[in-house]
Amino acid sequence: MPRESSPFSGTAGDLTGRTVAGYRIEAELGRGGMAVVYRARDLRLERTVALKLLAPELARNDTFRRRFTHESRVAAAIDHPHIVPVFEAGETDGVLYIAMRYVAGSDLRRLLDRAGPLPPAPALRIAAQVASALDAAHEHGLVHRDVKPGNILVDRGTDSDHPEHVYLTDFGLTKKSLSLTGFTTVGQFVGTLDYVAPEQISGRPVDARCDVYGFACVVHEILTGRPPFLRDDDMALLWAHQYDEPPPLTEARPDLPPQADAVLARALAKSPDDRYDTCLAFVAALRAAVRGAPARTHPPTRVDPGAAPLAGERPPSPPRWAAPVLTPPAR
Ligand SMILES: Nc1ncnc2c1ncn2[C@@H]1O[C@H](COP(=O)(O)OP(=O)(O)OP(=O)(O)O)[C@@H](O)[C@H]1O
Ligand SMILES: [Mg+2]
Repeated sequence: MPRESSPFSGTAGDLTGRTVAGYRIEAELGRGGMAVVYRARDLRLERTVALKLLAPELARNDTFRRRFTHESRVAAAIDHPHIVPVFEAGETDGVLYIAMRYVAGSDLRRLLDRAGPLPPAPALRIAAQVASALDAAHEHGLVHRDVKPGNILVDRGTDSDHPEHVYLTDFGLTKKSLSLTGFTTVGQFVGTLDYVAPEQISGRPVDARCDVYGFACVVHEILTGRPPFLRDDDMALLWAHQYDEPPPLTEARPDLPPQADAVLARALAKSPDDRYDTCLAFVAALRAAVRGAPARTHPPTRVDPGAAPLAGERPPSPPRWAAPVLTPPAR
């Protein structure tokens, strides 16, 4: 069989200096189970992009191709500050690719591995940004299906009030829907099962609330350093998502008020009907629990930062923890 010329058949860095679909590849940024992501130069527009090349067997899977085409179009149409802008998606020489905004930060996986659990303030700031991205996608009828720290990119924010700018990426690029056992038909491991909702496992229809569950697993990990369920093998993990009670948040974080346990328990409910309807409603409830106040799901929008406090509103106080969680790379 002729050796396939693809980024998956050689060593990392093989493609550096090569031009693929009009993008000159400069460096590898990372690789997951199904793709390699490069920093690349868009030669037409003279700008830096992140170029994701998907494993060739995915291009041969019709279900995946259809979803890739449809969902990359929908994702590209969503103009949202916390969703990575997609510039182009297509196919070249049998390889599906996606060109998107280059985010010069770190993904949340690396950040948590390095920094460990985050204090409540940055945890809530990051969670709120991810939640707004997910809710916006849901309003466009798009379910992410693979919410996990590796798909959350954390860049430097604009100022000390916004120390991080968070982006959600990888809509419709999950292989989980192709296999319930964690393996594809070609025997390649799908990736982590730490954030998969019970209805995804049992093959029931999924909607926005499956992302509420996956997102709640991520929030649990941001606050405790570990996802809610840790088991020795995949079958035990799948079982736990479907039938086991998640451990209370305060077991690992006794500094948080017990009301936060109830919020996480609801977001992680086995039945979608018992969860929050939106990710922002979950974050609002968590924020209220952490502050020890009742949840306000629709806080008033203040457009004039110098305006007097609204009736019943306390004047703004400095955040309890405002330091950036990200050590910005040199630019
Ligand atoms: N737009 C981007 N800008 C900068 N870096 C990116 C961008 N998109 C992805 N990356 C980096 O590339 C890495 C690999 O991404 P990829 O989506 O292939 O793998 P993953 O999400 O970690 O795992 P999986 O294969 O399960 O999706 C990411 O973890 C991230 O660090
Ligand atoms: Mg990814």
